[in-house]
Amino acid sequence: MFHARLPQQLLASLAARPATVALTGAGISAESGIPTFRDAQTGLWARYRPQQLASPEAFERDPCLVWRWYQWRRRIIAAVEPNAGHRALAEMEKALDSFCVITQNVDGLHRRAGSRNVIHLHGDLWGNRCQRCAALSAHEDNTTMRPPHCARCGGLMRPAVVWFGEPLPASALSAAAERIACAELVLVIGTSGQVYPAAALAEQAIAQGSMVAELNPARTPLSAKVRWRLELRAAEALPRLAAPLRRPSAR
Ligand code: OAD
Repeated sequence: MFHARLPQQLLASLAARPATVALTGAGISAESGIPTFRDAQTGLWARYRPQQLASPEAFERDPCLVWRWYQWRRRIIAAVEPNAGHRALAEMEKALDSFCVITQNVDGLHRRAGSRNVIHLHGDLWGNRCQRCAALSAHEDNTTMRPPHCARCGGLMRPAVVWFGEPLPASALSAAAERIACAELVLVIGTSGQVYPAAALAEQAIAQGSMVAELNPARTPLSAKVRWRLELRAAEALPRLAAPLRRPSAR
């Protein structure tokens, strides 16, 4: 069912404080000024070929090119702020006993907005990982034009994100599947639902009978299957969903 306004049933369900999971994608960060991946005009993949920049083969071929592209993205992201959508999810975490964010985003904006219970399915732009020995390190400098060397083995460090052709971190994926298995309500926010296995988590929620609401101005393959479809921007809809939870006893 399509809703331009917030559906009363969804508000009533939230008021009962169900076990809730927010499954987020690039759309939630769009209003912070970060381009999504697949939007026709502005999406990152409309301008850059993923396999040229976000794959182990690309890094092997030209590590400096790949590193510079990620440094460019890091500088853009460091200069923006979390938006009202991110902040509303952080508020929901405080108000609901069982709440977590499962995100495909690597931008760290959920954390900066105050969310603590966040599962990163596609890794974290603010960490690096050795391409040879997998040692992890915090990312420190957004200006260097060459990938640093690993302090342990001397191999090249790369952003600690998931690239095309790579598996998702097993611990994140299993933690996400467990949270979905227990979720009574799932908010699917700002994702085109085209990238698996992340997209399968929303399908799992529908199949097991959880209440699922999709927040996205555009239709996705999930739209026809969800209980509520909110054709609204995340930064517009989420504060309105979180507001009724803001009461003295919830703090
Ligand atoms: P996409 O770029 O595929 O989809 C973004 C979705 O956000 C689209 O459905 C838009 O309609 C929607 N959207 C745009 N603005 C919005 C707003 N203000 N509020 C709500 N929704 C909005 O991004 P993802 O689905 O996140 O993977 O892409 C999944 C993965 O594909 C990414 O994590 C990345 C990419 O390849 C890796 O890098 C591993």
